[in-house]
Amino acid sequence: MRKQTKNQPIAFPKTLPEGYQYLDDEPTYNSDKHLALEYPKESLSLRDFGYSDAEIEQCPTDYGISGVARLLSDEGVAALMNVVQQLRQYTVTGGERIQYILRGGVYRSRFLRDLCLCPKVSKFLSEIYGIAVAPHSIPLHLGHCNYAPDDLDRAIDKWHSDTLGLDYVLMVSDPREQVGGEFQYFLGTKAEVAEITRNGQPMPEHRIVSPNFPGPGYMVVMQGGMIVHRGAKLKAVYDRITMVNGYVPLDTTSPDFSRFSDIKAVDPHDVLLPEWARHKAWLARGRLDRLIDELPFTKDKNYIIGELKSAIKEVEVAIKDLADESPGFLTNYGDL
Ligand SMILES: [Fe+2]
Repeated sequence: MRKQTKNQPIAFPKTLPEGYQYLDDEPTYNSDKHLALEYPKESLSLRDFGYSDAEIEQCPTDYGISGVARLLSDEGVAALMNVVQQLRQYTVTGGERIQYILRGGVYRSRFLRDLCLCPKVSKFLSEIYGIAVAPHSIPLHLGHCNYAPDDLDRAIDKWHSDTLGLDYVLMVSDPREQVGGEFQYFLGTKAEVAEITRNGQPMPEHRIVSPNFPGPGYMVVMQGGMIVHRGAKLKAVYDRITMVNGYVPLDTTSPDFSRFSDIKAVDPHDVLLPEWARHKAWLARGRLDRLIDELPFTKDKNYIIGELKSAIKEVEVAIKDLADESPGFLTNYGDL
C-alpha cells in the first residue's frame, strides 16, 4: 500500500496574464447558495475497465468513473450559465478534435474561479475519489468549457482520454432538452481503443455507456486520463455547454498524468509555459519535502542519489518540454 503524503495545494496566481480581465458584471459565488452536493450512487473502478494491477499502480487512485452526482443548485446553474454565456466570446478552436473551447476562464470570471477553487467541492471530490485532491496546479485546466459546434456533422468532442488525471464533467445546459450530444464513455482500456482505431473499426456499441443526467448542474467524476470518452454528435441544434474542472492528488509521488504536447497546441504560451513550470516545480517541492522528512540514516549513497534524482525529476521534464520546439497536437481516437 502506497503511503499517502499530503502537500499544500498550489496557490492560485496573484496576477492575471496580460490581456485578461475579470467580467464587470457577474454573480458572486456563494457555496451555500450555489452548491447542492449529492454523492453518486455508484462508481466503477479502473479494474472494471480492464486495467491491470501494474497499470493501476501507476495511477494515484483506482477510481474509474462515478455514476451521476450533483454539484450545483438551480441557482448555481443559473449563475454559471450567466457567466459561460458572457465568456463565449473568448472561445478558441481545439483543432480538429473540438470546435469551441474556453480555456483560462478562471482568469476572466471571479465566479468561475471561485467555484473551481472552492474547498467544499475539493473536499467532496476527495471523498468520492478516496484520496485527497486539490484544484489542478495548472489553472488552464480549471473551468474548461466545451460549447456546441456550428456543424451537426461534427462530434462535440471526439473519443479521447484527458490531458490530465482527475476531473469532473458538469452539465451546464439542460441535457433533457438536448437531442443527441450525449456524454459517453467506453467500458474498456485506452490500449483497446487504440487497437480498435488502428483497425479503422467503430467503437463497439454494447461497450459504450451514456449516463443519464437528470438536469443541469449534474456531473460525473472520473479519472479522465484513463477513461476514453467523448461528446457525441448533436441530432438537433442546441446550445450544449459542459464545464470540466481538473484536480491533482495532494500526494505528489505518483507519476504526473498531465500531457504537455496536447495543451501546447491549444493554449497561449505566455500563460501555459509559466503554468507548466510552476506545476512541475510544485510536484518536485512535494517530493523534496517528503525526502527531507523521510530519508533514513544510511551510507548507501546510490540510494540517496536515486531519491534525490526522483524528487527533482519533474523539474527536468519541464525543462525538456520547454526546450522542445515541436508544435504539439491534440491526441484523439476519432469519432467512429
Ligand atoms: Fe475529456
